[in-house]
Amino acid sequence: MNEEVIYYPEDGVRAAVEQFDTPFFLYEEKKLRSNLQTFRDSFVKYFPDFWPLYAVKANPNPEILKIVADEGFGADCSSESEAWICRKLGIEGMYTGNYTTRDEFKTVMGDDMIVNLDDISMIETVAELGMPELISFRINPGVGNGDFVTAGPDAKYGVPFEKASEAYKLAAEAGAKRFGIHMMTGSNVPISEENYFAELVEKLFEIVANVRDEAGIEIELMNIGGGFGVPYKPEEESLDMNKLAASIRSEFDKAVEKYGVKEPRLMAEPGRWIGANVGWLVSKVHVIKDSYKKFVGIDASSSDMPRPSIYGAYHYASVLDGSDRSLEEVSVVGRICENNDQFVKNRELPIMEVGDVVLIHNCGAHAFVMGHNYNGRVRHAECLLEENGELRMIRRAETIKELFQTTPL
Ligand SMILES: Cc1ncc(COP(=O)(O)O)c(C=O)c1O
Repeated sequence: MNEEVIYYPEDGVRAAVEQFDTPFFLYEEKKLRSNLQTFRDSFVKYFPDFWPLYAVKANPNPEILKIVADEGFGADCSSESEAWICRKLGIEGMYTGNYTTRDEFKTVMGDDMIVNLDDISMIETVAELGMPELISFRINPGVGNGDFVTAGPDAKYGVPFEKASEAYKLAAEAGAKRFGIHMMTGSNVPISEENYFAELVEKLFEIVANVRDEAGIEIELMNIGGGFGVPYKPEEESLDMNKLAASIRSEFDKAVEKYGVKEPRLMAEPGRWIGANVGWLVSKVHVIKDSYKKFVGIDASSSDMPRPSIYGAYHYASVLDGSDRSLEEVSVVGRICENNDQFVKNRELPIMEVGDVVLIHNCGAHAFVMGHNYNGRVRHAECLLEENGELRMIRRAETIKELFQTTPL
């Protein structure tokens, strides 16, 4: 049983359900800081000028972002609102949009945000707005990996690698003087594929060398993206970040010697690996239904955390004070009028009764943020268990009235 998956801060959860109405998301600051430090330090050991970014899309709560910045991370932003909140908090970083509009470029461009272009066609728009001195390109290397593949011929992202030299040449002609390269080929890359990121780096260096040879341009930043896999099931192993960083170091050494290029500054932008195991969706049982099978109805729904409903994603579930109880096979379901609103399907869990507290694990990244208002459900609260043991609500629940505030009502 992987502790990373089954752990939750029991005392914190107990205090939180006393203090706040369920459902809510609970994030643990101690674990968040520990993940940030492990990631940062694993790379800094091999790359002293490593620049870690945090993928804001994973969890953009400003209180989370403040902790992320306090641990020395910049921001990977994917939209104008993510860039807006980071700018407001004084966090610098990189903007990687896709199919970006001219208006969005206008909003995000600034000295604090490196623009990472997703296609050659965007050079013209950016040049019209004023070509930044430093520009980066997201390259599609032709292959991808992970639960969510974001590269390869079917992916809508990035500049095809065959067009990379042309892209850099055009950007230089438009006035750019310094350059970065970026790749993001998939999210939740299987932990077992230990060499995947080193292979990615090998590919990036091949492109760096081509760009030098064909366009006479030296690339000074190399961003290997995010996508580092996390265990969702108790039987899955955790990724050894130190080993991964060491394998990238070794690939850098090989490539710098092979191609005779200057070593670029390494960057990465994890989201899931930083945040997933830092958060839990905390809910209470309010209905137990003996139907063709047994359904346990909780007060959270797929509108709070849609991953199981849209991807069939597995999330471990615990019952507070349930460890000594007998088990029975149940499905844990929410209140949305869709049959895919099932957090747990046909799984053995401690026998539950109305009022029990149920936790859905791995809900600190790509969780709250994917929530929606279908069926007129409001978005629920987010709470932080601070390092000093105090609980703080860092986003209150929406009200029904707020759901209609953008209409003429
Ligand atoms: C451009 C980019 N960078 C970083 C990430 C973060 O990925 P992950 O949360 O898997 O680390 C994503 C995720 O979709 C992404 O699209």
